[in-house]
Amino acid sequence: MNLVLELLLFLATLLFSYLEAFVKLFVPVRRKSLSGELVLITGAGHGVGRATALEFAKRQSRLVLWDINKHGVEETAAECQKLGATVQSFVVDCSKREEIYSAADKVKKDIGDVTILVNNAGVITTAICNGRKLEIGFLLSHLYFLPSCSSSKFAAVGFHKALTEELSALGKDGIKTTCLCPVFINTGFVKNPTTRLGKILEIEEVVQALMEGIVTNQKMVFVPPQLNIALFTEMVFPERALNLLKKMTIPKFDAIIGHRSTQ
Ligand SMILES: NC(=O)c1ccc[n+]([C@@H]2O[C@H](COP(=O)([O-])OP(=O)(O)OC[C@H]3O[C@@H](n4cnc5c(N)ncnc54)[C@H](O)[C@@H]3O)[C@@H](O)[C@H]2O)c1
Repeated sequence: MNLVLELLLFLATLLFSYLEAFVKLFVPVRRKSLSGELVLITGAGHGVGRATALEFAKRQSRLVLWDINKHGVEETAAECQKLGATVQSFVVDCSKREEIYSAADKVKKDIGDVTILVNNAGVITTAICNGRKLEIGFLLSHLYFLPSCSSSKFAAVGFHKALTEELSALGKDGIKTTCLCPVFINTGFVKNPTTRLGKILEIEEVVQALMEGIVTNQKMVFVPPQLNIALFTEMVFPERALNLLKKMTIPKFDAIIGHRSTQ
């Protein structure tokens, strides 16, 4: 196509997209039903993973729960069953590719095709900085379910972006992705977390935002929502100012309580 025509098409698409977004502000958002969906949640034995499992159970989803911690995942399964959900739990180490493949095969063969995957398993670890402890969160596992997806060691947001673009390029428009970006969540890992700027989140508000994101097909879910401004500041603030800002938002705490058992 002629370059001028392509540029005109681009401008028309841009205008249409803005108009569509504006109209959507006044139209009630459609929420999809989660009843009967087969939901696999990794890291379901504690924290965000457990709370998410309970939310899906309340919405009549069928659950497959994975965790490295047998006791934790069984406890979550029992709580979900009390809410009337069909649940199966597995001990899986999501940092081991072979374990993931073999557990995924078992799920596919014995239970069925997973329709929603919540890739949550991960660890929070702490580091000492100027004598104070600070939080570093990172994701351990990635979507080994999608055979041709190759963004293995990318950070979670970059991985999500790459995956979404790859799915779109493959024309797999039926697969929706939602990436959750919260600030520090109080999951009981540390005692008395505080921060000088911003807030410490409770699990419930994070999981409510996540569920809303999933049922309305949001690509990115920021908790608190104003966190998306951080993306903008990364582009416009000088590095030194950014570093100062980051220091103000780092959570501090009195002690690590922890729950690292795998039994
Ligand atoms: N808590 C936060 O402040 C925070 C902030 C941003 C992102 N996150 C991310 O959210 C996710 C959940 O965090 P959380 O605070 O609920 O953590 P959590 O420690 O409360 O729960 C994590 C669960 O994952 C399980 N797990 C850990 N390693 C595993 C492995 N190799 N295989 C299978 N299961 C494993 C643990 O046993 C535990 O049950 C993590 O990926 C974390 O990095 C947490």
